[in-house]
Amino acid sequence: MTASAIASNDITPVPGPLPGPPRMLTGDRPTGRLHLGHYAGSLANRIRLHRRYESFFIVADLHMLTTKNSPEDIAAAGRHAADMVLDSLAAGLDPAHSVFYLQSAVPEVAELSLLLSSLVTVPRLQRIPSLKEMGQHAGQREMPLALLGYPVLQAADILAVRATAVPVGRDNAAHVEVAREIARRFNRRYGAVFTVPALVPADVPVLPGTDGRAKMSKSLGNAIYLSDPPGEVAAKVRRMYTDPARTTAGVPGTVEGNPVFVYHDAFNDRPAEVAELKERYRAGKVGDAEVKEKLTGALNRFLGPIRERRAALAADQGLVEELIVTGTERTRREAKRTLADVRAAMGLTAALAGFRRAARARGAVPGPPGQAGP
Ligand code: TRP
Repeated sequence: MTASAIASNDITPVPGPLPGPPRMLTGDRPTGRLHLGHYAGSLANRIRLHRRYESFFIVADLHMLTTKNSPEDIAAAGRHAADMVLDSLAAGLDPAHSVFYLQSAVPEVAELSLLLSSLVTVPRLQRIPSLKEMGQHAGQREMPLALLGYPVLQAADILAVRATAVPVGRDNAAHVEVAREIARRFNRRYGAVFTVPALVPADVPVLPGTDGRAKMSKSLGNAIYLSDPPGEVAAKVRRMYTDPARTTAGVPGTVEGNPVFVYHDAFNDRPAEVAELKERYRAGKVGDAEVKEKLTGALNRFLGPIRERRAALAADQGLVEELIVTGTERTRREAKRTLADVRAAMGLTAALAGFRRAARARGAVPGPPGQAGP
């Protein structure tokens, strides 16, 4: 027996190319408008980091297809993409430092994903818990091939733009680890093409939903959106889950893990007010109504400037669309360059070039476009 095609020592580091400018890539699948959970979990971190890098933000519509691929889902993706970019800009991403792009419009990424898929095994991917969870969550009994390949496609995204830093939450950390392994394996086997990307963990606690469930999510219907108007925020907060043991305002309440207080801690800009509310809550000296009223105030103070920016950006017709189009073209140029390097390093360009030379010698085949014939 010869060595197996994918030996585990293949991932010991070899010197990569000199890293280019620091470049960051992160993003989301286009599933809808952004909510407070997105803000706390990733957007705040992106806003904090993005000016230090050349920052790329992917709208991962090909990744969406791994769990949502009905014609209706696909038809809605464009609107969702525009909404998400609008929300991100309104929340504070600077368009001068951000490249937004639509994954499916960069076909080089799909080709790269295929080429990279020879560098990872099925059992390696099967051991990633997030994939099984995503499949189950989407109601799939069996694992679609594309879902198993989700981390490989993500590796292609990351390596196509040669990102040096990838800030993601806990559920995506394992995917970035796959990308790092694939990059090292590629460099060992075919030569130093890739800088091994660094995972930037965004290890923030997950924001609970308004219903008290562990995670705020659109599909659970327990989200407050960045674009919700003030009255909607007030209504959602009024219906929020709090300490169920507290039947009247006189009963001492639990603050820890109580979503109303989790939100106060995350978004209320008046820490003294929060401290005082917690104290009275624990002592049974404040009603839920008052705690919620103050939370509505805090959330609307936080969301007010975001709403204003969102309205101004939306009034600038075609702006978001232009950013996505120019960002996608920019990304495509990067991906084409990477793919040319990858194909050359793997030796995939040699055969056709040889055939071409031989064919041209017969005088029957013209030279490649842009090159003078013999
Ligand atoms: N997997 C990410 C999500 O959970 C989206 C994504 C696709 C991504 N490609 C990426 C994130 C590359 C960071 C880098 O929606």
